[in-house]
Amino acid sequence: MKNLGILLSGRGSNFEAIAKNATSGKIPDARIVMVISNKPAAEGLEIARRLGLTALVISSKGKEREEHDREVVAALKEQKVDLVCLAGYMRLLSPWFVQQFPRRILNIHPSLLPAFPGLEAQEQAFAYGVKVAGCTVHFVDEELDHGPIIVQKAIPVLDTDDEHSLAARILEQEHIAYSEAIGIVLTGNYEIVGRRLNQK
Ligand code: GAR
Repeated sequence: MKNLGILLSGRGSNFEAIAKNATSGKIPDARIVMVISNKPAAEGLEIARRLGLTALVISSKGKEREEHDREVVAALKEQKVDLVCLAGYMRLLSPWFVQQFPRRILNIHPSLLPAFPGLEAQEQAFAYGVKVAGCTVHFVDEELDHGPIIVQKAIPVLDTDDEHSLAARILEQEHIAYSEAIGIVLTGNYEIVGRRLNQK
């Protein structure tokens, strides 16, 4: 059984989808052992408590990045977390954090990377006028929204879309893509060549 640790800052819908798929066995041999938010008001904390999961607030307010990261990593290691899943965690990890879990930190981003990294990716994509949008699950490295790609899902942008309907349809894909990516990483049946992840 592999231990997942979730980091989030807000709504928590990706976390909830992962929790559901871990419980149902869609993600095999995995369980969420803790949820950490850097924001005390994150709705994701409520979901965690409702599901009976350990939910921790480690506030980042007024702390140096690495100082905060050291507290988060200590909590993750205490619970013997094997894989760290960033699920709407709106905070850049320090290089030190990344080095504590080599190829063991995943992130989801609501665009087809490398297009539209950073904040409000769906709005950026819509405003740019793209005809295809989507989401990316990738390994976290020292650069923002950058590490090797594990799963991407693409959807067409419809003429009837606005940025809200587009974001909602991307989110549906996020909920599928994240569990798929966790499954790939946990089985270990892949190799990374350069930036390419090839499933074996
Ligand atoms: C998701 O759309 C996720 O892709 C995005 O934040 C949202 C969190 O929603 N993450 C980023 O933009 C990271 N750069 P959720 O809290 O309901 O999972």
